[in-house]
Amino acid sequence: MDVFEAINTQRSMRRLKPDPVPDELVWRLLDAAIRAPNGGNRQPWNFLVIRDPETKKRIAEHYLDGWNNSYGRLREVALASEATAPVYRSGEYLAQHLAEVPLLIMATCRLSAVAPVSPAGASVYPAVQNLMLAARALGLGTCLTTIHRAHEAEVKQLLGIPDDVETMALIPVGWPRGKFGAGARLPAERVVYWEKWGDIRAR
Ligand SMILES: Cc1cc2nc3c(=O)[nH]c(=O)nc-3n(C[C@H](O)[C@H](O)[C@H](O)COP(=O)(O)O)c2cc1C
Repeated sequence: MDVFEAINTQRSMRRLKPDPVPDELVWRLLDAAIRAPNGGNRQPWNFLVIRDPETKKRIAEHYLDGWNNSYGRLREVALASEATAPVYRSGEYLAQHLAEVPLLIMATCRLSAVAPVSPAGASVYPAVQNLMLAARALGLGTCLTTIHRAHEAEVKQLLGIPDDVETMALIPVGWPRGKFGAGARLPAERVVYWEKWGDIRAR
């Protein structure tokens, strides 16, 4: 798949089938992830591949609690607006079905390996995006999620993650129930300034 086609049709896919994702494809995602830029090429990342049903169930419980305590409170307001209702429903679906997703990938950052004057996430999120674009090219749905961090300590303990390592993103991966397509965005013209802050240009 052309890289622009992958970029332009990659959106968060939260409704995923329980069908397994073969190891060969998992490796293709991870091989793409580790090509990403990172501060000082210190590669502070690790990726935990999680398929064990009991582990997924425990993570899903933490995730759902995190959802209920954050977005859960916004339910009525979010569902009242046509602009926010679809994304809200999709987020709620994932929160309620995370344990059924066949594959979870936890991207982490070793804090002691982060390059000087560099935010920790800056050396991991490019890898996450590579992984998600590779998934798109293979027809696999993904979504960058962080809500498990409401229970970061419990999730780290469950997965045996050391103190020096922070979780950056939990990525559900699976065959999508819905269709790929462009996510809603302001056009580039609205967010790009030329030479000086605030100077916009027509294309
Ligand atoms: C830092 C970050 C954290 C996110 N956390 C969550 C999350 O915990 N749960 C979720 O369902 N989506 C999460 N998302 C996905 C966003 O909601 C999504 O990218 C955004 O609504 C745009 O939609 P699209 O990806 O379909 O274009 C996160 C995205 C980013 C970049």
